[in-house]
Amino acid sequence: MSMRLKGKVALITGAGMGMGREASVLFAAEGAHVVVCDINKKAADETVTLVEKTGGQALAAVGDVAIEDDVKRMVEEGVKRFGALHVLYNNAGVLWKDKDRSVLETDGEQWDRVMAINLKSVFWVTKHGIPCLKRAGGGSIILVGSVSALAGFTRAQDAYTAAKGALISLNKSLAIQFAKDRIRSNIIHPGIVETPLQAPYLTPELRAEFNAGIPLGRIGQPRDIAYAALFLASEESSFMTGAEMIVDGGFMAQ
Ligand SMILES: NC(=O)c1ccc[n+]([C@@H]2O[C@H](COP(=O)([O-])OP(=O)(O)OC[C@H]3O[C@@H](n4cnc5c(N)ncnc54)[C@H](O)[C@@H]3O)[C@@H](O)[C@H]2O)c1
Repeated sequence: MSMRLKGKVALITGAGMGMGREASVLFAAEGAHVVVCDINKKAADETVTLVEKTGGQALAAVGDVAIEDDVKRMVEEGVKRFGALHVLYNNAGVLWKDKDRSVLETDGEQWDRVMAINLKSVFWVTKHGIPCLKRAGGGSIILVGSVSALAGFTRAQDAYTAAKGALISLNKSLAIQFAKDRIRSNIIHPGIVETPLQAPYLTPELRAEFNAGIPLGRIGQPRDIAYAALFLASEESSFMTGAEMIVDGGFMAQ
């Protein structure tokens, strides 16, 4: 084992399922202690069990990333348990294709909730997490955008797209502001990845359509994104900040 994150503490939001769970297991296997943040206690506990089964250490921190008090408490719980924070992996996000559609069809309440979970959450995590990274002498912030923020699609999810697009600008601002503190910020844009978020929508027909439209011929797996995040969390990416990493099987290159 290479232990690329030995001695690091990583806070990962939305770590109860999907890519966040996969990253928790991978980061722990590479030596990190992981603060598993999720709104779903059962899911967070399951991720902690998976990490512990492979000999790692993790803490379940349960709360809503859209609520400042919850985020502040989850950050504090992580620092209390593991003594510091070095990585803020802002992974939590929701895609509600039934309620978040075109601007013509989405109501204001849904728009605000999608924005709160997908965008404002990053405000709270960085507001309360960056002081911890500063105290640790530096660190890595990872944001999660989407190919949906890079192109328009006829099947619109406009609140989701707008929130992910805003993260591109926030990423650059965080990178420039905190470079002097040895804090880097980068954003990953996943393509379609097979997770519980996509599961309700992945009919055999849609899966076939996606597979055919992706140059590498398949939709992504959570580990495809977790490896990109591992690189950004580790010192291997120490000269990268303010950057965007597209991990989509070549979809956006067409
Ligand atoms: N799956 C894809 O195809 C895809 C593509 C592009 C971008 N993304 C983005 O990748 C990230 C991870 O997605 P995923 O597919 O692994 O999702 P997922 O739904 O499989 O897992 C997300 C986790 O976040 C948690 N969560 C949801 N709302 C929360 C809240 N308010 N507070 C705390 N935790 C909350 C859920 O309980 C869940 O455990 C998201 O930001 C998503 O927008 C996903």
